[in-house]
Amino acid sequence: MAHQALWSGRFREPLAAIALKFSSSIDLDRLLYQEDITGSIAHVEMLASAKVLTGAEARRIRTALKTIQKEIESGKFDLSSDFEDVHMAIEHRLIQKLGPLGGKLHTGRSRNDQVALDERLYLRGAIREISRLLVNLQRVLLYKAEKYFGVVMPGYTHLQRAQPVMLSHHLLAYVSMLERDFERLQQCHKRLNKSPLGAAAFAGTTFPIDRNLVAKKLHFDGIVENSIDAVSDRDYIIEFISACSITMMHLSRFAEEIVIWSSAEFGFAHTSDAYSTGSSIMPQKKNPDMAELVRGKTGRVYGALMNVLTMMKGLPLAYNRDMQEDKLPLFDTVHTTRQSVYMFAHLLVHTSFDKQRMAEELRTDFLAATDMADYLVRKGMPFRDAHEVTGKVVSYCVSHKMYFGNLDLDTLRHFSPTFGPDIFDFILPMSSVEQKQSAGSTSPQEVKKQIVHWTKVLGKRRV
Ligand code: ARG
Repeated sequence: MAHQALWSGRFREPLAAIALKFSSSIDLDRLLYQEDITGSIAHVEMLASAKVLTGAEARRIRTALKTIQKEIESGKFDLSSDFEDVHMAIEHRLIQKLGPLGGKLHTGRSRNDQVALDERLYLRGAIREISRLLVNLQRVLLYKAEKYFGVVMPGYTHLQRAQPVMLSHHLLAYVSMLERDFERLQQCHKRLNKSPLGAAAFAGTTFPIDRNLVAKKLHFDGIVENSIDAVSDRDYIIEFISACSITMMHLSRFAEEIVIWSSAEFGFAHTSDAYSTGSSIMPQKKNPDMAELVRGKTGRVYGALMNVLTMMKGLPLAYNRDMQEDKLPLFDTVHTTRQSVYMFAHLLVHTSFDKQRMAEELRTDFLAATDMADYLVRKGMPFRDAHEVTGKVVSYCVSHKMYFGNLDLDTLRHFSPTFGPDIFDFILPMSSVEQKQSAGSTSPQEVKKQIVHWTKVLGKRRV
């Protein structure tokens, strides 16, 4: 072993190389070096104001920590796997630089509260970044909704053609979903923005430390009161990954639609070549790989959620080393969600929607059947009877290989004398959407209201 462990006092022999390799987390948690140093500086400044250290001591430690940060960033100090974790590596380096003074940094602190602090600091940054990307994606969707305003497409339930809707309405549904994703992240941030530092190993410390001062220095909203709770839980990570899982689920559904819409059978969406890939054997292929990968990466985030939930489920209070295993799922979730939201915005910018193809599909189907039934109801027929009559018209068309557009009034009247010449305009796709009167419906007026709403909300949002 290259370095003597900082806890080696009570041990008669050093940790076996294989045990160090097995237990080291530095290959992952080195990602936390900045948060670790920021947290240590706040801690040491607090120790000085509590007179546990002198001002001069604190200043020297602070300067050395800043130098170590630069050394890490320039590659001069290698956070290598000879260390147990990033916290040990940095403290080791500090002692190397300052001698015994470096050993004072850890006064009144444990790695248990230290790691919880680092993770909370890290998550604050990650939440901000993902929130920004979500807003960006919402803005792209809003832009598309405005651009395609007026385009009517077949809407689906059970992936069977159901009723005409405005394409903008469909796109704005995702804006609403992403809004809740955004809110979930803000709520998660609010709950996790409390400082665990000062809980020490779990029981608190005999030094007269000021936990609130550290919390204030690090811009927390307060402290995690109960010191056992402060080091024992990882619910903030579970909550964050849950929020990301829901976002990924939303993206995955949209990704699925892009994949389907890009098929020749649908032909509703066309993605530019720069965001599509070819086949190594089939020369004609143009594949929607970006959307597929977003769909596929969703599994990674769900997996991470199960990972942390399962890792935590049987742990007695307080800290257990099992908890070190939270790093991979946490970091991978941040990486995957960030990447996917970012890619999705680009993918959408480079995807156009085919108004003609949508119109063709609207012509050659029975999406206006609900409107036909509503028409009969407006003329006084009970809805159930109108449903039955319209069903018979559909059945007739199917067996005669026809669509509503091919029917004449005499044929319609054969099914019900209630039909009048105004039926033909009533069941046009555009009038179908225009007739909608309920709040939040697919009528142009209601869709316009959504556009106005989101333009206002997203226009002034600063994250
Ligand atoms: N690397 C550890 C983790 O990530 C830090 C805390 C270690 N604490 C301990 N008592 N061994 O969980």
